[in-house]
Amino acid sequence: MTRLAGKNALITGAARGIGLAFAQAYVREGARVAIADIDIARARAAAADLGDAAIAVEMDVTRQDSIDAAVAHVADSFGQIDILINNAALFTAAPITEIERTDVDRVFDINVKGTLFTMQAVARHMIETGVKGRIINMASQAGRRGEALVAVYCATKAAVISLTQSAGLNLIEHGINVNAISPGVVDGEHWDGVDAFFAKYEGKAPGQKKKEVGQAVPYGRMGTAQDLTGMAVFLASDDAEYIVAQTYNVDGGQWMS
Ligand SMILES: NC(=O)c1ccc[n+]([C@@H]2O[C@H](COP(=O)([O-])OP(=O)(O)OC[C@H]3O[C@@H](n4cnc5c(N)ncnc54)[C@H](O)[C@@H]3O)[C@@H](O)[C@H]2O)c1
Repeated sequence: MTRLAGKNALITGAARGIGLAFAQAYVREGARVAIADIDIARARAAAADLGDAAIAVEMDVTRQDSIDAAVAHVADSFGQIDILINNAALFTAAPITEIERTDVDRVFDINVKGTLFTMQAVARHMIETGVKGRIINMASQAGRRGEALVAVYCATKAAVISLTQSAGLNLIEHGINVNAISPGVVDGEHWDGVDAFFAKYEGKAPGQKKKEVGQAVPYGRMGTAQDLTGMAVFLASDDAEYIVAQTYNVDGGQWMS
């Protein structure tokens, strides 16, 4: 299939995990992808594996100069950017009584402001060049409701859902569709970190929380990055033309909305 033939995508946080699976799927569908990540060594290795259709770009979504430089570089390299996936994010957890201001700032800077200002930079590029593009933000089931130990991360993902709604309504007049994907629990390095937080705060053995959450998914197991690629391709494709400001759950039945 080449549902994204001729399209150019910028994917943040694509050096590993879900972002990398999106990059691989997009290349399979005929797109060129820019693997943008703060971890440039890993981004370069990922791009090299994908061959001529991929480039690596050093990008820290918490810094405006880095966002501007990365967007300009990708636009220059590819001619234009048709698709943005705001995927870079950090997880954090702590009881309310132990949350630290520095940690809140750090995680909001990446998950919320990084998403907003990367969206802004790419939207400006799309409007200036007349590209009727697609923007996909990575939300989470954590943005659908609070969790006792996960207040800050949940709040950032609720903000991503809200930003997707507002930006979707604002940018559709330029022919730019903004939507979001809300995964449930997805196996990978991210969840290894999540598991470590729960081992600390709930006194669980390493791997125990991960096992429990997998068993609790209605589908019967944790998700994989591959489980999410169908939605990422669909939302970037012509078939999603009339979809605006939505957040889609791809979570094995975890959340209904
Ligand atoms: N894994 C899950 O269970 C899960 C569930 C719901 C939502 N999500 C969301 O899906 C997305 C991808 O998750 P993942 O599991 O692949 O995460 P991950 O931690 O494996 O990968 C995140 C990537 O972002 C990069 N990154 C970190 N800070 C950055 C910065 N300042 N600028 C640019 N890049 C930066 C990292 O280097 C890494 O390559 C995230 O938005 C995450 O919140 C994940």
